[in-house]
Amino acid sequence: MQSSCFGRVSRRSTLARGLRAATVAAFAVAAVAALPVNAADVTPEIENRSDQLDVPFVPSTNAVLNTMFEFAKPTKDDYVMDLGSGDGRIVNYAVSHFGARGHGIDLNEGLVKVANARAKSAGIADRAQFYVRDLFKEDLSKATVITMYLLPELMMQLRPKLLALKPGTRIVSHDYHMGNWRFDGAKPVSGRASGEDDVVYYWKVPAKVAGNWDWQIDYSPLFPGAREYKAQISQRFQDVEGKLDTGALPMRFFNARLDGEKISFSASGEVEDRVVQHDFEGVVDGDTIRGTVTLRGPIESRTFPWTARRNKAGK
Ligand SMILES: C[S@@+](CC[C@H](N)C(=O)[O-])C[C@H]1O[C@@H](n2cnc3c(N)ncnc32)[C@H](O)[C@@H]1O
Repeated sequence: MQSSCFGRVSRRSTLARGLRAATVAAFAVAAVAALPVNAADVTPEIENRSDQLDVPFVPSTNAVLNTMFEFAKPTKDDYVMDLGSGDGRIVNYAVSHFGARGHGIDLNEGLVKVANARAKSAGIADRAQFYVRDLFKEDLSKATVITMYLLPELMMQLRPKLLALKPGTRIVSHDYHMGNWRFDGAKPVSGRASGEDDVVYYWKVPAKVAGNWDWQIDYSPLFPGAREYKAQISQRFQDVEGKLDTGALPMRFFNARLDGEKISFSASGEVEDRVVQHDFEGVVDGDTIRGTVTLRGPIESRTFPWTARRNKAGK
């Protein structure tokens, strides 16, 4: 069992209690008393078939949905996938409130029917669909936003698949985190009748930047022609360290930040016998990074084009 960063180990109890109840009775009936997306939408009682499900149906509250979307900020250009979509409230909310598109998957056929019926009655069935499918077998590559309310062990099983998604994909989870993949945001949400808080966690899938890179900085007109360097980057999820080999002392990165496909860091190096701070900013596109380097310090600030290409031979 994981403890949350807010130190409330017992706070996983809302879902864990649901799981226990479903396990005790093979065909337990879901607890569906939480707030629905629209006041008129009261989820009918649906069998929670614990012999098939990895986690029972316990719906996220409206307050949790709002916090999830405060982090994920869906727009009409987003494709939202809810893994274990229950009565469809998350995808239907994202589609009706933010104009996104998306789909949900759930192994509970009754809930999938409810979710599709709600999309239809809201007039959004062309943009929100629900399918009876196993979340572990789902192709997630289309998603730009992934939402989940699953148990910790399931999230850890899904983690490699989530990390392999397109850099920049936003992931929000109700109540459970993904261990040492540090979250990019977390917020407690109050409002449960029981008085317990929920928590929403947020991550952005980081680009893969670990390895050796060939760099080119075009300092013209300060210096003629482009200069070439070698760099090494190491990475642990979104945390990166690196050094740039300039022939003199290696320039170590500081203030490094990887935000999806966007990378930025600083390094100090000599320019004309003066120590100058180099602020790099770029966008990672597979094996290429394109961006700029701004020189600051005891010289007039100037910005130059910077390109990095992955050196697959490791030289
Ligand atoms: C805790 S509920 C969350 C419902 C919804 N996402 C929400 O937050 O309101 C988890 C859902 O996952 C579904 N589920 C469990 N195991 C699944 C699996 N292997 N594949 C797809 N759905 C699954 C359950 O039927 C249940 O509806």
